[in-house]
Amino acid sequence: MSKKILILNGSPRAKGNTKALIEAFEKGAAGHHVERFDLQAMNIHGCLGCCGGGKDPASPCVQKDDMEKIYPAYREADVVVLASPMYYWNITGQLKCAFDRLFAVAELDPNYANPKKDCVLLMAAEGEDEDNFAPVRALYEGLTSHMGWRDLGAVYAGGNFEAGAIHGHPEQLRQAESLGKSI
Ligand SMILES: Cc1cc2nc3c(=O)[nH]c(=O)nc-3n(C[C@H](O)[C@H](O)[C@H](O)COP(=O)(O)O)c2cc1C
Repeated sequence: MSKKILILNGSPRAKGNTKALIEAFEKGAAGHHVERFDLQAMNIHGCLGCCGGGKDPASPCVQKDDMEKIYPAYREADVVVLASPMYYWNITGQLKCAFDRLFAVAELDPNYANPKKDCVLLMAAEGEDEDNFAPVRALYEGLTSHMGWRDLGAVYAGGNFEAGAIHGHPEQLRQAESLGKSI
């Protein structure tokens, strides 16, 4: 069955390693409806913490910026793909900003319930040992568990610093493609 896949791309590099992982994933996921947002090119502000959202399902946040484009896709999505380079053992600020703004959607529910989604993580990083990825594994596991989302898989693509370095690791791109195929 065809699924709706929302990709939130937190990489600021248009031709970077994260983008290559995304393209491989998209290749594998051919046949599904995929919508990708390149957050770096969008006007998305950080959450104000005002807790004043959740009044209008079509436009749940008090801030009217490019999140307005993401909310409808988020509402419809079966699968949310979080794609990001590792920045200081975390996701990038671009992705964190957008993710925090999803709280306005939870505010639509009297119990702040998040919509149930399946989830994927695609991450490029310079470091490649297990220790390097431990903080992000914990972040991703904690996030999916607390959101009540089902983890469909993650690609932790280490050993990539320069943009395009990932093409020297075809097995990482194959892993992203297989994950896309498995949806
Ligand atoms: C500000 C900054 C912080 C970074 N922090 C980390 C880090 O904590 N661990 C790591 O392994 N790589 C780190 N890197 C390297 C990037 O994760 C790596 O270059 C990645 O391939 C970039 O993906 P992109 O091509 O999609 O931008 C950092 C890079 C930058 C620019």
